[in-house]
Amino acid sequence: MDSIPPFSRRTFLKGLSLAPLTKLPAEVLHERRHAPLPAGEEEILQLQVDGQEWKGKVEARTTLLDLLRNRIGNTGPKEVCDLGACGACTVLLNGRTVNACMTLALACQGATVVTVRGIGSPRYPHPLQEAFVEDDALQCGFCTPGMILSAFALLERNANPTRREIQEALAGNLCRCGTYTRIFEAVERAAAELRRRRNK
Ligand code: FES
Ligand code: FES
Repeated sequence: MDSIPPFSRRTFLKGLSLAPLTKLPAEVLHERRHAPLPAGEEEILQLQVDGQEWKGKVEARTTLLDLLRNRIGNTGPKEVCDLGACGACTVLLNGRTVNACMTLALACQGATVVTVRGIGSPRYPHPLQEAFVEDDALQCGFCTPGMILSAFALLERNANPTRREIQEALAGNLCRCGTYTRIFEAVERAAAELRRRRNK
């Protein structure tokens, strides 16, 4: 088996610019991300996650997904492909959807991050969260947080999307269980409920 060459932050970032991560075999990418780094390769990061300030030392190679799940303990965003292909790790970064697995944490300095936990709670769920339950729009549920956040961003800019617009907005979110029809119905239900609340 080929050995994994040693690397520094510089070679890691250089690798990012020269070779798309999606072209690296997943196991190589994983080993590179988790290989030991020399001491001192950390910087202070400060950001807001779901309304809470967070500050701490972060390695340059740490992704936003690693930070959220493994440092902050927010397991809302899911790690599925870890390659930017499935959308399970979708979060809102300063109001825009991003794949947290493809976003370096240090690129989020001073940013506002919203996960599925930040738009509602079990006691006061967002209409999208309610609609996914009502419409039984999930099976394993791994795609659900990302689906909900992509739909949330859509409904922020378009209160009355067509089925086609919903499909396009969720095109980057893959559901391996194939629950798409119910997901689209749930987004339509939530959109109607949000319009009803606004027009009250
Ligand atoms: S886990 Fe990030 S896109 Fe799949
Ligand atoms: S419900 Fe299983 S991946 Fe979507």
